[in-house]
Amino acid sequence: MPVITNIEDLHRIYRRRTPRMFYDYAQSGSWTEQTFRENSSDFQHLRLKQRVAVDMSGRSTRSKMIGQDVAMPVALGPVGLTGMQSADGEIKAARAAEKFGVPFCLSTMSICSIEDVAAHTKKPFWFQVYTLKDDDFMRRLIERAKAAKCSALVVTVDLQVLGQRHKDIKNGMSAPPKLTVKSIANMMTKIPWGLEMLGTKRRFFGNIVGHAKGVSDPSSLSTWTAEAFDVSLNWARIAQFKEWWGGPLIVKGVMTPEDALRATEIGADAIVVSNHGGRQLDGAVSSIRMLPSIVDAVGDKSEVHFDSGIRSGQDVLKAVALGAKGTYIGRAWTYGLGAMGEAGVTKTLEIIHKELDVTMALCGETDVHNLGPHNLYVPRGFDDPTVLL
Ligand code: GLV
Repeated sequence: MPVITNIEDLHRIYRRRTPRMFYDYAQSGSWTEQTFRENSSDFQHLRLKQRVAVDMSGRSTRSKMIGQDVAMPVALGPVGLTGMQSADGEIKAARAAEKFGVPFCLSTMSICSIEDVAAHTKKPFWFQVYTLKDDDFMRRLIERAKAAKCSALVVTVDLQVLGQRHKDIKNGMSAPPKLTVKSIANMMTKIPWGLEMLGTKRRFFGNIVGHAKGVSDPSSLSTWTAEAFDVSLNWARIAQFKEWWGGPLIVKGVMTPEDALRATEIGADAIVVSNHGGRQLDGAVSSIRMLPSIVDAVGDKSEVHFDSGIRSGQDVLKAVALGAKGTYIGRAWTYGLGAMGEAGVTKTLEIIHKELDVTMALCGETDVHNLGPHNLYVPRGFDDPTVLL
């Protein structure tokens, strides 16, 4: 086993171990993947301010997200199909998160169901829902999340229609994988993955199969989104979900100050500045460039969280310094999971924690709460997407 020192090491192992169809699913952006790339590369425009000869002892990354204690301001964001990256993947990731002391957010598009994850964990997790048009199914999903004692509902508002990811179409991506000459040939080269998968019954979308009506092919992400998602969504409908839920609500997928304010008006406890990891509107601005103006607009009306592009603790530090109260990783933990199962997710969290902690020290800070714009050199125009960097 190679020595693993960073997230990219986990990515390389994950890539070797995982069938192409599922690797491509996680690793794709929509269309040209410009936004997917810029989500990460725009972090490099932010430089850190080094400080010396300050007392760096007694450091703490502990914080709170929506009032809940976190070991660092990083949650495992909702990612679909993680039970296809590693057998029983959502259970493994939820366990790693609870041991580490960070939130785990289960995706509706998970393989292990809400009930299954709840039965295999001790602490409450968060549950993510899409905005579906079937009231009955939506209500039941929310009731199921309540029954499982989920401690926040994360409503994804940027997926009324699915951004096209070329590779998924070419690969015929589905769960369980459709058996074609190409997919079988590829899976034959992924023996450890295949043996693990044969050892579990969890190979379908556990929250959907047997629960949703009127979906012609519940193994296909594109059929399910095209048939079940609410194309006519509006804010009143999102407010209705909040009422049905009655607990902490996080609105995920906001990219402008105007939309962020609308989310605060319906009483969101937190909003997530996110372009869905570059998987929806290709050509959208990177999330990190939109963060400062959204933080300014929202003020203390709700918490501002951040995702899209984080691959390191330095990235977490930069987002927090620009005003995010919490951040989410998606691909970073998927790499860990696909590479090494639960231990890999723990490794992801350890790597990011160590990077955050040491970088904080080198910036002369001992408490994550004290991070701010004073720790960064922000290029002029960074927060103005009409300026080319
Ligand atoms: C689902 O939310 C996806 O991005 O694939």
